[in-house]
This record gives sequence, structure tokens and C-alpha cells, in this order.
Amino acid sequence: MNETKKLDCDICEQISQGTAISQPPRLTSASKFVLGFGVAIASIIYGVAIPFVLPGFRKVCLPYIPATDKQIQNILICLKGRSGALVDLGSGDGRIILSVMKANGSNNDFNIEKADGVELNPWLVLYSKYSKWRHRRSITSGSVSFYKKDIFKTDLGIYDNIVVFGVEGLMTELECKLEHDLKSNGVLIACRFPLPNWVPVLIEGEGIDRVWVYDRTSMITDTIV
Ligand SMILES: C[S@@+](CC[C@H](N)C(=O)[O-])C[C@H]1O[C@@H](n2cnc3c(N)ncnc32)[C@H](O)[C@@H]1O
Repeated sequence: MNETKKLDCDICEQISQGTAISQPPRLTSASKFVLGFGVAIASIIYGVAIPFVLPGFRKVCLPYIPATDKQIQNILICLKGRSGALVDLGSGDGRIILSVMKANGSNNDFNIEKADGVELNPWLVLYSKYSKWRHRRSITSGSVSFYKKDIFKTDLGIYDNIVVFGVEGLMTELECKLEHDLKSNGVLIACRFPLPNWVPVLIEGEGIDRVWVYDRTSMITDTIV
């Protein structure tokens, strides 16, 4: 009894002197679980969403918009007679690369030996690799690869066929890059947005599904279309 009284007095003294140490409120196991679960879910959402949101903050904003089936059909028409290596710049979920390679081979009008998808978003690269595995039996010739890489850090000089579904701002910058990088026999197939100055050698399709084909002669602005 005396002991308790003394304790009380000690605490009273500490409080009056301002030296009492306040204890933080203790979390119950249930609240710890709820808090941990909330943090985990928020981290997952953040981790998945950020790569989709980040393109909006880049100098050239190129969001993820998948190509339409008609757009892809137009690309296949434009590849008629082509061979060698192909790249899709900003390959998204890999649908263009996989559609080209599924249609590739002796029964078709083009023969692509190697097709690469270049994409900044790691989730889309991962999904493309999964799709490649899923469609592995439909791809009977040529190799397919997907890389997490920036379009502007990609050497375009190794490709005979370049496909891009970009935006207006990107096409201006790409035009400058192609002046240096495009092979003498190389072609660019541009979806939805044309190059600002080059003259296309072929146009296929209408409206949002339209594609433009350019080669090195396109740089000479008086080329007859
Ligand atoms: C309009 S989508 C086209 C997707 C795909 N080619 C298709 O047609 O279905 C453009 C893609 O480019 C990617 N991208 C944006 N900026 C990029 C960059 N600097 N380097 C590589 N990929 C980029 C985006 O993440 C997006 O998936």
C-alpha cells in the first residue's frame, strides 16, 4: 500500500517537473494486420500504375493505346515483299509483333527473320513475353524478343522494317533520328500519325486505322506518291 502511494507520488513529481515519459498508444494485432495489408495493397497499386502514368510526364507523352485489328491488317498489307529484321517502337502488349510473326512465313507475302518489341513499361514487356509463350505454336518461323528499352536509345540501323504507333510530338523527333538511322533499304510503317515532313511511298487504310510507309526516298520532298 505504502509502496503504491510512493509510486503515485514519484509519478506526480515527475509530471510536476515535466520529466514523465509518455507511452505511445499500443496497436492491437488486428490493427497491425489491417495497416500492413493497406500498405501492401497501396504499394502494389502504386507499382503497377506508375509505369502507365509515367509516359504522361515525359518530354514526348506517348500513352499506351493498343493498335486496332484493322490497323494491324494494314501493317500486314504494307509488309508485302519485305524481309529481314523488324522492330515495333513502343510495342505495348506485343500485339503488332505477334500478329506479324503469326502471319510470317512461306505462305505469306513477307518473311521476317527477327522481330523485336521495344517498350518502356516493364509490365507490358512482361505481358508481351507471356503472350509470346502463349502463341508459341502459331509462330513457325523467325525469332521474337521483347525488351524494356527507350525508343530513342534503340539503334534503328539494324532493322529493315520499323513500325511505330506514336503521337504527333514523337513523329517529329523520330523523323530526325531516321535521317541518320534508317537503312538504305529500310522502311518505316507509321500508324495513325504520319511523319511531319517526309513524303510517304504508300498509304493504306482510312481514319484512325490508316498507316503510312516511308523509305529513304521519302526524305526528298518532291517524291510522287
Ligand atoms: C500508342 S502505344 C502503342 C502500343 C503498340 N505498339 C500497339 O500498337 O498496340 C505506345 C507505347 O509506347 C510506349 N512508350 C512510350 N514512350 C516510350 C519510349 N520512350 N520508349 C519505349 N516505349 C515507349 C508506351 O508505354 C506505349 O505502350
